Amino acid sequence: MKRWKKIVLTLVVILIVVVAAGAYKILGPRAFLGPRARALTARSYERTPARLARGKYLAEGVLTCRHCHSPHDWTRHDPAIPEGRAFSGSVIESAGLPGRVVAPNLTPDVETGSGNWSDDALGRAIREGVGHDGRALFPMMPSEGSLPDEDLASVVVYLRSLPPVHNPLPKTEISFPLKYIMRNFPEPLTAPVAEPTFSSPEKRGEYLTRLIGCPDCHTPVGADHNLVPGMEFGGGQVFEGPWGKVASANLTPDPSGIPYYDQALFIRTIRTGYVGSRALNPLMPWSIFRGMTDDDLSAIFAYLKTLKPVHHRVDNSITATRCPIDGGMHGAGDQNRKQ
Ligand code: HEC
Ligand code: HEC
Repeated sequence: MKRWKKIVLTLVVILIVVVAAGAYKILGPRAFLGPRARALTARSYERTPARLARGKYLAEGVLTCRHCHSPHDWTRHDPAIPEGRAFSGSVIESAGLPGRVVAPNLTPDVETGSGNWSDDALGRAIREGVGHDGRALFPMMPSEGSLPDEDLASVVVYLRSLPPVHNPLPKTEISFPLKYIMRNFPEPLTAPVAEPTFSSPEKRGEYLTRLIGCPDCHTPVGADHNLVPGMEFGGGQVFEGPWGKVASANLTPDPSGIPYYDQALFIRTIRTGYVGSRALNPLMPWSIFRGMTDDDLSAIFAYLKTLKPVHHRVDNSITATRCPIDGGMHGAGDQNRKQ
């Protein structure tokens, strides 16, 4: 080989190594190796009436599975699901998503749904973020690894009981580079997750809000797409889609939050979707949470009362202006000052 050819070849090899090392560092090792995933087992959850009832309560209400995995008429205050289409999947129509995100058909239709997925494949997807096909799922489901084993079993048993609905949908397609980066997110669960016990209603309320994901929506998001630290439950995250453009409310007891709420008003708001005469946007899943028991709702409210006050004005009834705290545009944004 001629000397110059050797030099060029060496340089090309070095360049490839440098680019690969850089990509490895930026995208994470799992971008190349595929997500961490445990092998699926033949585990099957015994179908019992208690699990069926608990699974229905969780999947239709508390865990908002039905909210994301069904089509809705978002133009209505109560965003009804078309007859017979619950859990049949939906393309998530929220603006600003990094690509096309599709919540799949969870009904046991063999061709377009979960008919061929095992109990363990469903369980692994829900808690460990790996799809039935071994793919890293776009990290949108809120409860992740913390769902206790018995609740997981109940949800799976309930999903299995649904009538199959034929509903072909496109596939999720996440844009570069997140498509690769998100392969680093899944964490296999190897230990059992026990039903937690709580020393007070406030503690139980805190647990429920995490499981449900209230803070995922009710905390502002900064320019880096992460929740703004120190502003948990401070509201101002903006959601744009067929439901219009709406910012989540500040739920803390600060004067700019909901200090005037008492338990009765809270429960009435969640059950009716109205705060007094003001209709809540259908994106706030009140139509889902209204099925929760008084006991669960009061525990959540007890916890909200203990939140650290966050000063952050958010008002959906006035024009959106730039907010110096979260950098986004929402009603009353310009009334805020960076601390
Ligand atoms: C905030 C919206 C949201 C909520 C709430 C939600 N999901 Fe999902 N789910 C999704 C999206 C989006 C995907 C697909 C991600 C992808 O394709 O990368 C998904 C994927 C799945 C999968 C994976 C299917 C497969 O390919 O193997 C299962 C199973 C599932 N969800 C079940 C549930 C259950 C059960 C609940 C309630 C405990 C739930 N989801 C709550 C949005 C949601
Ligand atoms: C999918 C995102 C989302 C989730 C999850 C969510 N919220 Fe909301 N919530 C919103 C949005 C957006 C608004 C503002 C609606 C409006 O002003 O029309 C809102 C408004 C509210 C309000 C009304 C406040 C007021 O008086 O203006 C309450 C109360 C509330 N949410 C409580 C909760 C609780 C408790 C949870 C968890 C159990 C929760 N939300 C989960 C998005 C969400």
